[in-house]
Amino acid sequence: MENNIKVTIDGVETEVPQGTTILQAARQIGPEVAPPAMCYYKPLEKSGGKCRACLVKVVQGSEKDKRPMPKLVASCITPAQDGMVVENYTNEEVVDTRKGIVEFLLINHPLDCPVCDQAGECHLQDFSFKHGTETQRFEEDRRTFEKEDLGPNIKLNMNRCILCYRCVHTADQITDGRCHGVMNRGDHAEISTYIGQAIDNDFSGNMIDVCPVGALTDKTYRFKNRVWFTKPMDAHRDCDKCCGEVHLWYKGEEIIRVTGRKNQWGEVDEFICNTCRFDKKETADWTIEGPAVMTRHSVTSANKYRKDLIAKPSFAVDYAKHHYKKINDDRPYDKNLKEIKASEDYKALMEQNKDFKLLEE
Ligand code: SF4
Ligand code: FES
Repeated sequence: MENNIKVTIDGVETEVPQGTTILQAARQIGPEVAPPAMCYYKPLEKSGGKCRACLVKVVQGSEKDKRPMPKLVASCITPAQDGMVVENYTNEEVVDTRKGIVEFLLINHPLDCPVCDQAGECHLQDFSFKHGTETQRFEEDRRTFEKEDLGPNIKLNMNRCILCYRCVHTADQITDGRCHGVMNRGDHAEISTYIGQAIDNDFSGNMIDVCPVGALTDKTYRFKNRVWFTKPMDAHRDCDKCCGEVHLWYKGEEIIRVTGRKNQWGEVDEFICNTCRFDKKETADWTIEGPAVMTRHSVTSANKYRKDLIAKPSFAVDYAKHHYKKINDDRPYDKNLKEIKASEDYKALMEQNKDFKLLEE
């Protein structure tokens, strides 16, 4: 298409409209090359640029200017250029840096996954599992806060907050008036309501859905169950405030939680109102569509609901296509084991690989 540009990410070329960010271009290729994102949230304007989880290496700036970018760039806010070549999982510096980012985010974040409601669907848990290291060098005390009620439905556990600003953008962009935000700066920065004001408006519950960690929790769901024991169902109802399309999370016959429907990137497609989220907890309130298909890799999708979750092989195939080299090897392979063991080739191979036992009798 006219005005489309070509970008190559981890050896896979894709075509995207001008103005597309590197992260969006990578998502277009697939989850195999898409950088992780802890603060970027597509439905929210101005999100991104805070957590650095999505850093990538630009090894060729563009077709016109082939110079690499000197430092790693945040892919969620950097527009792709025509002819740009980007390395993500194939770049050692990126992989190493991400380990540091995980370590940094976990400096103050408590490792309380066993009691945290977000466990199992926590982006930081996934991020550290996939990109982090098993140890941490931080020896000082973590900063701690008292838990805070943000209005009648939301509990803030500031200890877990990673200051991604998603909830702030949500409150700014989809509620009538934001009365919370990030107070103070640097090490003292914290999410709080303005002089203890309560958050109470029709769409405030969406802040729970956008929070990547368990800092903002649903008071009607807290400590009711582990998410992997629940049964998510797609359901809808006629609602005059929102789209009314939700996931209902069942424990046996009981609806214990209602959330917006999330896509494969863990972002809600449509925000829902507080009436649907907090007040409609009876099956009779909803038209049930069927079991929810979890497209995001998560414990909630393990062993069930995964029929449509096809792991696309395209990345491996495309990568192989780009890096394919014909092996020049015309050694005969029709010898028997004795002949092979007697051959000079085999002796040389065994000399180099003294632990190699495959052909030992
Ligand atoms: S409370 Fe959650 S959404 Fe808000 S800034 Fe902290 S981590 Fe982000
Ligand atoms: S996702 Fe890009 S900086 Fe956070």
